Amino acid sequence: MSNPSAREVGEWYDRFGGLYGLTMGDSMHLGMWTDGVRAETGELTADEMWEELTRAQDSWTGTLIDVVGLLPGQRMLDVGCGTGRPTVRIGTESGASVLGVTVSAGQVRAGRDRALKAGLSDRVTFEQADAMALPQESETFDAAWAIESFAHFSNRPAAIREVRRVLRYGGRFVLADCYEAVPFTPEEVQLFQAAFALSRLPAGPEDYSRMLGEAGFAIQDTRDMSREFKPTYELIPRLFAARRAQIAELVGTDAMAQLDTVYPRILALCRDKMGYTMVNAVKSP
Ligand SMILES: C[S@@+](CC[C@H](N)C(=O)[O-])C[C@H]1O[C@@H](n2cnc3c(N)ncnc32)[C@H](O)[C@@H]1O
Repeated sequence: MSNPSAREVGEWYDRFGGLYGLTMGDSMHLGMWTDGVRAETGELTADEMWEELTRAQDSWTGTLIDVVGLLPGQRMLDVGCGTGRPTVRIGTESGASVLGVTVSAGQVRAGRDRALKAGLSDRVTFEQADAMALPQESETFDAAWAIESFAHFSNRPAAIREVRRVLRYGGRFVLADCYEAVPFTPEEVQLFQAAFALSRLPAGPEDYSRMLGEAGFAIQDTRDMSREFKPTYELIPRLFAARRAQIAELVGTDAMAQLDTVYPRILALCRDKMGYTMVNAVKSP
């Protein structure tokens, strides 16, 4: 599969995005496990596994919120916001205004619903937009983050230029995403890209910093989180098995037959060959 277009990614999420909600937790990003998985997870029910995964996701979101350091009254852009759990949380904790953009129409609705339930619809908003061609005006945000959206982008330098354009000088951009820690074979690339509507991942953690530096960001910090994220790949397959009937109902019989063969292989690939990095940068003149 060649790199998917923004429209194809949006369609993929509108059709299969529910898979994330069923098997990964309530956010759409990986979880951080600083102390390993709880020892007794062998005993957990499907719902308890889901809660454990959501807790680990929330730990990572909390770490990123600290890194962004958003202040009341400021304005932030969430680039590729998913169904909005991290967006609403950073809005709640910071007192700032946050705009989440995503290519999925369904996610815009889900995000708005969350903001409404949190009583934050005036400050936490959602729009359908392509991060590689943002409709927002230049220099209108104090900060931005992109949590696992860059993995999809067919043109990452374009997305970085767009984020830089809409940020004010000195504005912080935090990018968290995956990379190929061990090179994928051509067959693995194909499998991985097709399964999740992804573009070819960067070859190493330094690729993101290099692209940000070339676009005019000053790098303040990078962290490799690969080790802390590994337990996710042990829990997700178990939750997948426990919720197989619900997943089949969501995706349909044909897609389920494919998932049954490729999902375990993909998760093993992620566990064995994928790394995870975070880059914290500010827009310099
Ligand atoms: C793995 S999800 C992560 C969602 C969210 N950041 C989170 O952590 O819960 C990837 C997100 O990137 C969005 N995305 C992918 N390509 C995009 C594009 N070209 N422009 C805007 N958003 C995009 C998807 O719609 C989805 O919301």
